[in-house]
Amino acid sequence: MKYDFDEIIDRQNTINKKWLKYDDPEVIPMWIADMDFSCPEEILDPIRQRINQGVFGYADAPEELNEILKERIESNSDWKIESEWVTWLPGAVVALNVACRTALSPGDMVMTPSPIYAPFSEAPENMERGFIKTFLNDNEGRMELDFGSIDNLLTDEVKMFFFCNPQNPGGTVFRKDEIEKLIQIALERDVLICSDEIHSDLILEEGKEHIHLASLNKEIEQKSITLLGPCKTFNLAGFPMAAAIIPNKDIREDFRRYMKGIVAHIDAVALVATKAAYTQAGEWHQELITYLRKNRTLLQEGINSIDGLSLTGPEASYLAWIDCRDSNLVSPRDFILEKAKVGVYDSDWFGSKDYIRLNFACPRARLEETIDRIQKAFSQRN
Ligand SMILES: Cc1ncc(COP(=O)(O)O)c(C=O)c1O
Repeated sequence: MKYDFDEIIDRQNTINKKWLKYDDPEVIPMWIADMDFSCPEEILDPIRQRINQGVFGYADAPEELNEILKERIESNSDWKIESEWVTWLPGAVVALNVACRTALSPGDMVMTPSPIYAPFSEAPENMERGFIKTFLNDNEGRMELDFGSIDNLLTDEVKMFFFCNPQNPGGTVFRKDEIEKLIQIALERDVLICSDEIHSDLILEEGKEHIHLASLNKEIEQKSITLLGPCKTFNLAGFPMAAAIIPNKDIREDFRRYMKGIVAHIDAVALVATKAAYTQAGEWHQELITYLRKNRTLLQEGINSIDGLSLTGPEASYLAWIDCRDSNLVSPRDFILEKAKVGVYDSDWFGSKDYIRLNFACPRARLEETIDRIQKAFSQRN
């Protein structure tokens, strides 16, 4: 490997959410979705050069960045986009909120399958709009859409469907037939789909591919908002940046209007980092996938050796949705924090129970230590 993903980087002395959460320095934080890996020199160098120039005035996303994203999408998939469809924002969560402002009038609702990354349910609540959830079915560890409940619960008030593909926290990469079925329901019921695809560069399961929802059907393309961005793939969450791709002109103009005065302009360094990530860091990205695949196998083996826990995925990204239903623990998260000193996310935050979410994007030695601690904690249970 050209890049050193094994390197242990001390993050305790920098301002970051992941490592500052726990007062106890013994706790290994494996909760929030950022990686403990350094960006490669291919991204760091342009950032340094930008910083060394020393002047940090206002910056707008250059047209060139739209072209770069367009080329990236078109070389990785069958989707053909126009560069003018792209709107850059400081983060995908911002885009989820703006999508609610754009698509929902008072009394309208968003539907999303749960468990789901909490900002999906918070976005409609933030602007006092309704939110209705359907459930993902756990099919031998794969979290799948429940089309029956989507169909049943879709009332006339539901104007937008929040789709998350690859799914967070379940890790599912939805197949073409699954996405097509969803599209069919949305078109029949006149529902806009906002498809958050920011984990789509991180497919781990061999033989799986990411399919952009909007690429499958020209009609849904006109009724869709697709969210993409470099932050998960290249570990750039500290430089918020996401793209909302909106083919329909009216929706796009409304979306931009609703951003005005509320959505902050984009960080000058984020623009440099995004360009470098998308154009220079391809080899690093490939090696990252290889490293994450090995981490995933290690974690699956470790977790599945523990009575009461089970892990099948994730098919994409670095977030393991661990089934604790057979553990008989009231709070698997608390048990793991207290007995193993490992900090994971509780499934409550995703609107579920009896699961935990563990982020395995860290140097292998740290993951081995984590697995070892969890195994010991469970083996010592009375
Ligand atoms: C599906 C999904 N969307 C959005 C985000 C956050 O994106 P951003 O940091 O760009 O707001 C996350 C972070 O984990 C996520 O998993």
